[in-house]
Amino acid sequence: MDTNTSKHQEVLVHRENPHEHLPIFIYPNSKLREKAQPVTDFGEEFQAIIGKMANTMYAAGGIGLAATQVGLALDLFILDLSPGNDHLEVFVNTVIDEAGGKVTNGEGCLSFPGVLEDVERAAHILGSCQDRHGNKIAFDYSGLEAVAVQHEMDHLKGVLLFDKVSRLKQRYIKKTVGKFVRQLPGR
Ligand code: CO
Repeated sequence: MDTNTSKHQEVLVHRENPHEHLPIFIYPNSKLREKAQPVTDFGEEFQAIIGKMANTMYAAGGIGLAATQVGLALDLFILDLSPGNDHLEVFVNTVIDEAGGKVTNGEGCLSFPGVLEDVERAAHILGSCQDRHGNKIAFDYSGLEAVAVQHEMDHLKGVLLFDKVSRLKQRYIKKTVGKFVRQLPGR
C-alpha cells in the first residue's frame, strides 16, 4: 500500500443522493487495478447497477464509465457519445476480435480529473459484446467509438490512461489529479 492514498481513497461525487449514484474511484486508488470478471447474472441487481452507473456518468459529465471505476469487478462499461447525451450504450463481456490502423486522440477519464492526454489506439475494431439483457451484439467501430471502447476495455483489465503515457506525462498527471483532489470540498 502506498502512503499517499488517504486523500485518494474514494471520491464520492454525489453525496447528496448516494442511493442513485456510485462513488467514482480516482487515481491512484488500487481498486482501479482490479480485473473484471465475466457477467453471468443479468437480473434485477445487475440492471440496478447499470442505472446507477448511468446516473453517475451523466452527473459527472463523462462519456464513458467502466464498472471497475466504481469499485465493481464486472465486465461492464457504458458509453454515451451522442451530442444530446441521450443515447446510453451498455457493453457487457466485450471482446475485440480484430483491430487495425492507428489513431491518436486526446483522452480524458473520470478517474483522472483535469487530465487530457494523447493516446495511440487502433483506429478500427471488430468485436462483440452482450447488451444489458445478455443478447449478443456484433460491432464494427471506427473513430471516437473505437477509441472509447478500447479505453473502457483497458479499465476492465486494470489498465489506465496513466500507463499509456511517458514518465514525464505521468508526473504531470499525478500533480494534476492531486491538485484536483485537494480542492474537493471537505478535504
Ligand atoms: Co477512463
